[in-house]
Amino acid sequence: MAQTAPAQHSPSSAIDAQAVLAWYDRHARLLPWRVSPADRARGVKPNPYFVWLSEIMLQQTTIAAVRKYFAAFTGLWPTVQDLAAAPLDDVLVQWAGLGYYARARNLHACAVAVVERHGGVFPTGAAALRDLPGIGDYTSAAIAAICHDERVAVVDGNVDRVVARYLALERPVRHEKPLVRATVQAAVPERAGDFAQAMMDLGATICAPRRVNCLICPLEPGCAGTRKANPLAFPVPPVKAEKPHRHGHAFVIRDDGKVFVRQRGPKGMLAKMTEVPGSAWTDTAAVVEFPFAGDWREAGTVEHTFTHFHLTLRVWTIATDQPLDEGWWADETRLEEEALPSLFRKVLKVGSVGEV
Ligand code: ADE
Repeated sequence: MAQTAPAQHSPSSAIDAQAVLAWYDRHARLLPWRVSPADRARGVKPNPYFVWLSEIMLQQTTIAAVRKYFAAFTGLWPTVQDLAAAPLDDVLVQWAGLGYYARARNLHACAVAVVERHGGVFPTGAAALRDLPGIGDYTSAAIAAICHDERVAVVDGNVDRVVARYLALERPVRHEKPLVRATVQAAVPERAGDFAQAMMDLGATICAPRRVNCLICPLEPGCAGTRKANPLAFPVPPVKAEKPHRHGHAFVIRDDGKVFVRQRGPKGMLAKMTEVPGSAWTDTAAVVEFPFAGDWREAGTVEHTFTHFHLTLRVWTIATDQPLDEGWWADETRLEEEALPSLFRKVLKVGSVGEV
């Protein structure tokens, strides 16, 4: 009797969108801004304001962290009109901790533009969405696909990784962007929104950065990465440039349950956010110059990494009711009401330990 040949899974560069969708129908994550595949099939439409807000936040941090911020934002501002009408400073306060504050300013500017230019309704097509502040190629594609099933490729970091493994790309993924995009674009099915979210969920759950579960992956039959010894070898890491290191001093001035803070300048990093007074940040550590003479004590150091550099701040404290020229006394128990970036939250934490 003739022997049947064992099933051959020859790697193919085409992504099997139907397999991905079948997996998503069973395993889609429940997210507050997401319409489940079952509800989507019944005709329920995602809320573009929720999708936009979540996508902007997800560019900053994880889904777990975004849940809290998303709940706070939509609690305070349930519609894009409400967000547009809010003072920018209130938006910055709510954004505090997410980092990259230009994004929060653009978020507010975008809400205003949607109200002023589009009567409070997000445009439907990716091209029109891209004209709005803070909306680039990725976000415009994500909103158009998720909300309106526009057949565009939605490629974020998770999808880059999934495709880099699927194709076993030999070069760092940043050199292969056109191929990754073309591979995804060629696969986009009618259910473009579910497909986009499915690919991102795949990357977040079973094809994660340091852990893969190929046995249950719908892309496994065509995956070149699993045919090679180790799918975790992909994407091939880029050669990293060292980040420069900067140094500075921060001054925590406290008096009777209050701490002195001020607003940063209107331009540059963390513009207009609240800060603790401090020195300039320089390439080499400079001798401390206190803002006024007094019994300054060193409380410790704070290390912080921004996108383009590391920062070490030495934190100095003093107990005095002497203010600086510009700024205000903030109640130490109500610091969440201030637009304090994570860096200065860390500084205040170090500066609040020990006697001053
Ligand atoms: N990461 C960013 N956007 C996402 C989305 N819409 N679904 C799943 N993960 C995401």
